[in-house]
Amino acid sequence: MIETRNEEETRALGAAVGEASEPGDIILLRGHFGAGKTTFVQGLARGLGISDQVTSPSFVIACEYEGRVPLYHIDLWRVEQMDATTLEALAEYFGGDGVCAVEWPDSVPMDLIQEAVRIDITPTGDDQRSLSLDGAPPRLREVFERGAGVRKAVRGGAGAGRRNAPRD
Ligand SMILES: Nc1ncnc2c1ncn2[C@@H]1O[C@H](COP(=O)(O)OP(=O)(O)OP(=O)(O)O)[C@@H](O)[C@H]1O
Ligand SMILES: [Mg+2]
Repeated sequence: MIETRNEEETRALGAAVGEASEPGDIILLRGHFGAGKTTFVQGLARGLGISDQVTSPSFVIACEYEGRVPLYHIDLWRVEQMDATTLEALAEYFGGDGVCAVEWPDSVPMDLIQEAVRIDITPTGDDQRSLSLDGAPPRLREVFERGAGVRKAVRGGAGAGRRNAPRD
């Protein structure tokens, strides 16, 4: 469980995970509206070396970004019923050579996401979010638990910087 104190810390955590991500990784993001799913994906993109701005896919279910590894940002909020076309598209993304990040993944059939990483984001204050990780391979669990990016990326007053400065 990692606690972030502002959106930049959530992005930094996403970036740390992005740096350690490999083709074929599927990351499912759960959490209510405004929890920070898209914010985390913005970090993922940064970690994958993507400079394009990541926004929510609005009228399509997926946005594709070119990076060290392609990022497929999928948002299934509008998908009430999983139809054959959507299913086919998802299977293609999941079986592809990119990293898939999926918001609102509850309609995805289980057999497609057996190997998926699950991240749950829960607001614990105005700007605080608690992020938990499940089903991740060690390379991703390690960077997530270290929360390395988070501490390094903390910006703010000198006091905040000192408090969060690495000890070594
Ligand atoms: N620690 C934090 N981490 C992430 N976002 C935060 C944090 N603190 C405040 N926020 C704010 O919460 C909002 C998160 O929005 P975001 O679009 O990432 O949510 P979402 O989970 O993708 O929502 P939706 O379900 O509508 O797609 C932003 O306005 C962001 O500034
Ligand atoms: Mg979103």
